[in-house]
Amino acid sequence: MEKHIILLPGDGIGREIIDSAKQVLTAIASEYNHRFTFEEHAIGGNAIDDYNTPLPDKTVDACSKADAILMGAVGGPKWDANPSHLRPEKGLLGIRKQLELFANLRPVKTISSLLYASPLKEEIVNQADMLIIRELTGGIYFGTPSERTPNGVVDTLRYTREEIERIVERGFEAARIRRKHLTSVDKANVLESSKLWREIVEDKSKEYPDVSVTHLLVDAAAMKLVTQPSFFDVIVTENLFGDILSDEASVLTGSLGMLPSASLRSDGLGLYEPVHGSAPDIAGKGIANPLAMILSAALMLEHSFGLVDEAKEIERAVNDCLLQGFHTADIHIPGGVQVGTKQMTEAVLENVTTKS
Ligand code: NAI
Ligand code: MG
Repeated sequence: MEKHIILLPGDGIGREIIDSAKQVLTAIASEYNHRFTFEEHAIGGNAIDDYNTPLPDKTVDACSKADAILMGAVGGPKWDANPSHLRPEKGLLGIRKQLELFANLRPVKTISSLLYASPLKEEIVNQADMLIIRELTGGIYFGTPSERTPNGVVDTLRYTREEIERIVERGFEAARIRRKHLTSVDKANVLESSKLWREIVEDKSKEYPDVSVTHLLVDAAAMKLVTQPSFFDVIVTENLFGDILSDEASVLTGSLGMLPSASLRSDGLGLYEPVHGSAPDIAGKGIANPLAMILSAALMLEHSFGLVDEAKEIERAVNDCLLQGFHTADIHIPGGVQVGTKQMTEAVLENVTTKS
């Protein structure tokens, strides 16, 4: 298989960890006889420095012609005081919107060698293995008007039927190839948008008789995430609820440096990035954990290229590394050996090429 991948290193540790993902992909390509080509572009703070915009047209052009996009992270204190159109996050919001990456996927799975790191009791977090699907390009973050009024303020929550249908469908499709349980999260006891959301889920469920559906109100869902995370298989929800719940879920396993994410368009084009940010506090020290970035590359193989075996191979290699005791400074494995970004990457590469 031949695929062209755009690399957007971004800022801070983004640049340090993107090379790790590239190396692992190159190893996978030679192992499975694929050809992956890479092309690097600017986004975020570095793009502001070089091109006076967080999202150069050249970057958008290249991304829209690519088979997939891998991003590090954007942002840092250097640009914190900039006016809003010259903020690094504008680059990220812009690319999601311009490429219509409407579905944000975040798998959250307990890793047995890191169980102790969870803020929850071991017996609660033990079997957690969920996929959160958040609508990313609609809802209250993008509704107009959004402005101060003479006596207050207004934000607007708007969804078209089609926007809800396509994300709900994603949820059913994902549940179908997992444990066949879809939890749809809304606030249907209060919000009109949630009532329509719930109707659409009910309608769609007729096309997926093999998938069981639970409707949860967002407040109940927030509680259940910490009291019974193993209840969830696939969660589908709108933009604002998904933002909050996916951050809540991301701390369940206690290892932010381990979590990948995908943002997808209907035709499979996707942008893959770690959940964490640019970690300016450790940037340039060579100690960043590259595993979330490497696992994001695995998500890319699975969701954009349909290379399920190759994706599993990367996940297995990462797990084996941890079982062998390799860890970066952000995670700790009792009796293990603490390494930097380069050595951690080498440990993964070693496990990719020596299959157990
Ligand atoms: P952060 O995720 O960058 O860092 C939070 C803490 O986790 C820091 O102590 C950091 O050192 C640590 N950490 C994060 N990733 C790590 C890794 N791979 N290995 C080891 N330690 C890691 O979040 P923070 O500090 O709130 O934001 C820093 C910058 O990143 C800000 O400018 C923010 O806007 C940006 N950001 C960007 C995101 C993106 O590009 N998608 C997402 C979140 C934040
Ligand atoms: Mg968030």
